[in-house]
Amino acid sequence: MKPANLPRGLALLQSPTLNKGTAFTEEERDALGLRGLLPPQVQSQADQLDRVLGNLREQTNNLARYVSLIALQDRNETLFYRLLVDHIEEMMPLIYTPTVGLACQRFGHIFRRARGLYISENDRGGIANVLRNWPTKDVRVIVVTDGERILGLGDLGANGMGIPIGKLSLYTACAGIDPTVCLPITIDAGTNNKSLFSDPLYLGLHKQRTTGAEYDALIDEFMAAAQEVFPKALIQFEDFANHNAFRFLQKYKDTACTFNDDIQGTASVALSGLYSSMRITGGKIADQRLLFFGAGEAGTGIGELVVSALVDEGLSEPEARRCCWFIDSKGLVVKSRTDLVHHKLPFAHDHKPMSDLLEIMETLRPTALIGASGQPGTFSQPILEAVAKINERPIVFALSNPTSQAECTAEQAYTWTDGRAVFASGSPFDPVTLDGQRFVPGQGNNAYIFPGVGLGVLACASRIVPNEMFLVAARELAKKVSQSDLDQGRVYPSLSRIREVSLSIAIEVVKFAVERGLNTVEVPEDIDAFVRSQMFEPNYKSYV
Ligand code: NAI
Repeated sequence: MKPANLPRGLALLQSPTLNKGTAFTEEERDALGLRGLLPPQVQSQADQLDRVLGNLREQTNNLARYVSLIALQDRNETLFYRLLVDHIEEMMPLIYTPTVGLACQRFGHIFRRARGLYISENDRGGIANVLRNWPTKDVRVIVVTDGERILGLGDLGANGMGIPIGKLSLYTACAGIDPTVCLPITIDAGTNNKSLFSDPLYLGLHKQRTTGAEYDALIDEFMAAAQEVFPKALIQFEDFANHNAFRFLQKYKDTACTFNDDIQGTASVALSGLYSSMRITGGKIADQRLLFFGAGEAGTGIGELVVSALVDEGLSEPEARRCCWFIDSKGLVVKSRTDLVHHKLPFAHDHKPMSDLLEIMETLRPTALIGASGQPGTFSQPILEAVAKINERPIVFALSNPTSQAECTAEQAYTWTDGRAVFASGSPFDPVTLDGQRFVPGQGNNAYIFPGVGLGVLACASRIVPNEMFLVAARELAKKVSQSDLDQGRVYPSLSRIREVSLSIAIEVVKFAVERGLNTVEVPEDIDAFVRSQMFEPNYKSYV
């Protein structure tokens, strides 16, 4: 079937969404003015895949692989997504954490072409017009960052663009969201990372971050403009600093179709990991004492969703909150502290102030240690030995990204707990063999959650994204963990099953939206077929 307005000749070869490169057939070459513009041999997509995979594996480092992958995405999106879908375990660490962290740090140096929209404060008053410059009119998913807290790497300013690009690639690869409806956006409000200004290749505004009312007005204008220009779009906030992330979530969650992945996506994947951990350790989440190391977006986001889950299971809110204890950079989060910001207050318990992690562990005797601090190596040998002394099967989640920021490595977690830890991490770690036993660490990657939630929200055109959708997603993800996964020590299913997982989550999200009357399109009885039919498959279509 020939798409409408199909370009011809070189213009077709230069259109990444339509290009098939050497896979154009003889008939297509004749009909579309391609004769001579391609080498004579017609190849299959499988042949092309062999070539790109071979070239990719020959590269000497992951940043070079990242650059090659983006070049492929710029050339032939269908082939790029075929590669991602068929080799997701190998590709995810290249297009997302940890390599994307390095790519952001070096963004100005590896820049080829803009793959998304840049909105700077110079655009104030005309943001809607900037959005209209994007060639696709029916944008359905926006991932937006202001670059202030990129992974655990801090303020990278406009270099943060790698994050929305990577997240949207995952939407397509993991849940089959059509890439042509995805829009990565970076809002450049300056940067407080002055070292970027001494880099002549830095591509963002060379100025301090705008703050206060002026910054809020910029985000307000962006949100209003995005809703006006792309009224059907889901807007995902990504890697904003926590002093803004919580506020914006509160501000927009009831009036816009939006969520914050660092708070809600992380919470969902971590809660799901806890549900699965219970199948290994025995017991219920209600009986746990969870000690969070890091009380920011990720940590308190997880805490809030754990509380929602427990209240849903019958506990009172105060009882549920007693299961969650937090440590921030100043020590244990307790009532007597006067420096606590609002998102920590609900978790401030009556307890004496303490700051030494080992002493806190010995006093609170946690069943689980959850790292979301961005502080590498903080789950040291004495800490892990202590948690292993308290518990037969201690739960240890080192969620900080990228790999360099993880609170401990998988090997350390297993070694220092005599192989008894139920371990998960934010960035991937290789399997570990200890005394002949092989452990496969689970990756608590938000990619298990946000693509499926997004697919469900888009399929039924939900008006908003209530927090309960993340509870629904956490429970569905946990159901996908098999006994054989658990036997290997992993609390998440294999990434190779990610599309099936995303589909299941999307179906549950649609059911939830329908129950709550949030859907704005009619949902047929066969929700499975309804959602499945909306998933993009990276296969070539015939143009003649
Ligand atoms: P954040 O900046 O909101 O919070 C960091 C928290 O760590 C703050 O409460 C801070 O006080 C605390 N902290 C810093 N230094 C500390 C120290 N020495 N001792 C104790 N606490 C300390 O950052 P956010 O968004 O919560 O992210 C934290 C980390 O979690 C990052 O590395 C991020 O990449 C990672 N993350 C992982 C995800 C995943 O694995 N699925 C998803 C989202 C975030």
